[in-house]
Amino acid sequence: MGMSSDEVKYVWFNGSFVPYSEAKVPILTHALHYGTGVFEGIRAYPTDNNVCIFRLKEHVVRMLNSAKVYQFKTQYTEEELSGATVELLRKNQIKGSAYIRPIIFVGARPGGIELGYSGFPVWAAIVVFPFKAYFDKAELRVCVSQWRRISEQSLAPQVKACANYLNSAIAKFEAKANGYDEAILLDNTGSVSEGSGENIFIVRNGKLYTPPIASGILEGITRDSVFHIAKDLNIELTERGVARAELYTCDELFFTGTAAGVTPILEVDKRPVGNGEVGPVTKLIKEEYNKIVNGKSKKYAQWLTPIY
Ligand SMILES: Cc1ncc(COP(=O)(O)O)c(C=O)c1O
Repeated sequence: MGMSSDEVKYVWFNGSFVPYSEAKVPILTHALHYGTGVFEGIRAYPTDNNVCIFRLKEHVVRMLNSAKVYQFKTQYTEEELSGATVELLRKNQIKGSAYIRPIIFVGARPGGIELGYSGFPVWAAIVVFPFKAYFDKAELRVCVSQWRRISEQSLAPQVKACANYLNSAIAKFEAKANGYDEAILLDNTGSVSEGSGENIFIVRNGKLYTPPIASGILEGITRDSVFHIAKDLNIELTERGVARAELYTCDELFFTGTAAGVTPILEVDKRPVGNGEVGPVTKLIKEEYNKIVNGKSKKYAQWLTPIY
């Protein structure tokens, strides 16, 4: 995922559009030290004669819900944040595939350090940059991480808070250092949870299974899109606890995520998944998902927000 300031002209920052180099925060920003922020990852895709943001409303609503869980009180409404996102893409003349990163976070105030964030300003920013693919490979070889996914007992795994991502980052760092493309994290009970930045689905005998909210997953929007796609294709899908050994014995395995799209997994902990090739269910779902995001599905046209 590459980004540089020369690719980004304008950033939306606390209500105004400013040049990227001018969107700055003080070193004592609360969120920098304590992870007190929430964010989103949103994609825009080129369609026949436009560029469209995929499921913008659902992403903005999830971000506001994330902020609600941690009581980060933003002054911005869903409509303002959605409107600012569309306007930002226009201002940056985005013409192709792009990644959008909105963030709401606890800022800085005079008077030194304090963990409790009441009385602190809450700031918001939106950045967009050109983006093609998250993984540099179409198919992945992954490991089960030594680190467990954060649990409900300490934080809220279902929402997208900055602090949650130290857990994801350490798992991803470890996986890459050991030569794998990605990590799968187990939850605190030892059931499969998700990837460092993706939800996970397994296929057994032509049926789909995915861990439930109670397995400490982020409630993924791509995961929800796959629920719709599976229903349309008459593929049975069940949310249920997934055991670690099922990763080794299932027929097919894939990740879903805004950045990752639908990405097949061909190997887990050196064991081939199924026959070691992309399976038919994964292939169908991936094709269908790509059609939808690229504006080739009438049924899901309402998931796309045109920029121009
Ligand atoms: C930890 C984690 N799980 C799952 C997902 C997939 O969620 P979504 O499909 O909403 O992008 C993401 C990416 O946003 C993530 O960071």
